[in-house]
Order: sequence, then structure tokens, then C-alpha cells
Amino acid sequence: MKAAVIHKYGKPTVFTIKSLQEPMPRPDEVQIRVMASSVNPIDYKTRSGSIFFMSGFKFPRILGADFSGVVSACGSQVQHVKPGDEIYGFSSAATKGGAYAEVMCCPASKVALKPTLLNDHQAAAIPLAGLTAYQALHREGHISSGMRVLITGATGGVGHFAVQMAKAAGCHVTGVCHSRNTKLATTLGCDEVFPYDQSDFRNNDHHYDIIFDAVAKYGYWRCRRILKVNGTYISTIPSPSILLSKFSSRRQGRFISVHANTADLEIVGQLSNDGLVNPFIENIFPLSDIAQAHALSETSRVRGKIIIQIQD
Ligand SMILES: NC(=O)c1ccc[n+]([C@@H]2O[C@H](COP(=O)([O-])OP(=O)(O)OC[C@H]3O[C@@H](n4cnc5c(N)ncnc54)[C@H](OP(=O)(O)O)[C@@H]3O)[C@@H](O)[C@H]2O)c1
Repeated sequence: MKAAVIHKYGKPTVFTIKSLQEPMPRPDEVQIRVMASSVNPIDYKTRSGSIFFMSGFKFPRILGADFSGVVSACGSQVQHVKPGDEIYGFSSAATKGGAYAEVMCCPASKVALKPTLLNDHQAAAIPLAGLTAYQALHREGHISSGMRVLITGATGGVGHFAVQMAKAAGCHVTGVCHSRNTKLATTLGCDEVFPYDQSDFRNNDHHYDIIFDAVAKYGYWRCRRILKVNGTYISTIPSPSILLSKFSSRRQGRFISVHANTADLEIVGQLSNDGLVNPFIENIFPLSDIAQAHALSETSRVRGKIIIQIQD
């Protein structure tokens, strides 16, 4: 099988395309013929070595968390999917990866049937970023209809899913993004948009039930002033101020650490099938151009998702 391999941490050019033996599934795993993957910031953070304390020093390795593809074999304990099923999901990005390859193995507990109305590229856009948005809003924020929700990075990978999910939940949604992206933010469902290059949303007079700082740039303390009493600030990156917020009973800070699981993939898949959550795809790169895809993602200026086409 063809795979993008790294032999050390480094710049995007550290990838080499190689022919390797196909991995075989353990009893709890499925073997997947990968059709498409995507780039998440954790992929380039792993590649660069900036999270070596999580990713370790085992080389060579294949990166890539998100996948859509077809089950080609199942371990003896796998029950809910079978060979031939079209599935999607994500593996632990920093410690396992494997999706930048034609064949990978992943625990069956981290896959679900692919949403029927999505193609391979659209399905590969969803898993890690989509579940981060879903788990942040529903599991950490306990979102409900009528809430006022503010989302930073409203047109980025996580943020563009969060905007659509908050809208689907019946909330009033405020997005924060660059002024060049305000039109997209409105199209995604934002009722109000703050271009961060023109105004600071923390100076506005509105108060929010949930502030989802998807880009983790604004901080609990700096957002606290515009949180309603009993409101929740949620970040994608942990910080001491979030820990300290536990001592405030009235405005909580939370950190989302996404975990792959079949049940949440099914819920988000249903939202897609219902037309409520649509992945926005900025670019599609072949596996041979994985370096360009990572370099683009590292600009932090991506709208929606970057897809890696693994095979036709
Ligand atoms: N803890 C977890 O489980 C978890 C899971 C997923 C992601 N994450 C983390 O969450 C972060 C976002 O991930 P992602 O996939 O959404 O990244 P992404 O797709 O690369 O999105 C980056 C977004 O950041 C926006 N941005 C840059 N500077 C900004 C600013 N000052 N204010 C507001 N928006 C700004 C950009 O929008 P403009 O072009 O409009 O500036 C772009 O849309 C990353 O740090 C990632 O590692 C954590």
C-alpha cells in the first residue's frame, strides 16, 4: 500500500511517499481501505514535534486521524460493521494516526457507517472537527434552544461545524472571524458576525449562555465579562484560568478533549443526512501533495476543511 511516512519530526517536507505492507487488524479493530482523509491542526502539531510529549519518538510513522473508506477486514470481536461497509471515523491523532495511507486499522469503537448522503471527501471532513464541535456544545455546554452562543473561528474546521450545530439546536449564533469571511459565516448560519480585525467582540453589550472559543485565542478571564450568569466558556486548549474557574460557581470554564466514539459519529452523521450540517471544503489534495496540504493548514487561515484524497 502507498502511505505518507515520516522518519523524524520536521517541516511539511518531512513526508515521503512509500510502499509499505498493509497493517492487519487486532481483534477489536477494523481494517479500512481509506478513500479520503483530512488535515487537522493536531496532525501538523504531531508532525512538527511540538507535542512530542504526547506523540513520543517512535518512527517511522504514518500520520492522519480522519478517514472515510470501506471496511476490508474485521477483527474477531467486531460486531457493528462488516467488510464492504462504507464507514468514517478518526483514530487518535498524536499516538496512532494511520489515515495518510491506502490501508489502515482502527478500533471499531471509533467508526460508524458513513452518512449516506455524503461523498468520501465530505465524510472525511467531519470526524475529528465535527465531534469536537458536537461534544463541546452538547456535552460540555449543554446547549439548548433559545440560548445565545458565540463561536470564535466561526469559519474554521471546528468553528464552521459548531455554527451549524448551534443553529440546528435553535440558538442565536454570533460568529467571530476575519472580515474576509463574514459572508461565509452568515451563510453557515450566524445571526451576527464580529470581524476580529475590525472590532473586539468582548466590548459588545450582549451576554452569552455559551462562548465556544474554538480557536482558543481569547481566554476564560477575558471572555468572562460577556458570559451570562451560569454561562459557560469552552476552549479547545486547556489553561490555568479554566482550572481556576471551578472556584466560580456562576460562570464556568471548560476544556473540550474530543474522543472518537460510534454513538456521536452516528448523531453527527444524522445531522448531515438531515441537511443541518454540511462540511465546507476549501481544498482537495492528492496524497502526493500532503506537504502542501499541511503547509496550508499551518497558516491557520483555512475556511472549513482541507481534504486528502487517498485513492479514487
Ligand atoms: N482539544 C481538542 O479535542 C481539539 C479538537 C480539535 C481541535 N482542537 C484545536 O482547536 C483549534 C482550532 O482547530 P480547527 O480545526 O478549527 O483549526 P483551523 O481549521 O486551522 O481553523 C483556524 C481558524 O482560526 C481562525 N482564526 C485565526 N486567528 C483568529 C483570531 N484571532 N480570532 C478568531 N479566529 C481566528 C481562522 O479564521 P480567519 O481566517 O477568519 O482568521 C481559521 O478559520 C486548534 O488549535 C486545534 O488544535 C482541539
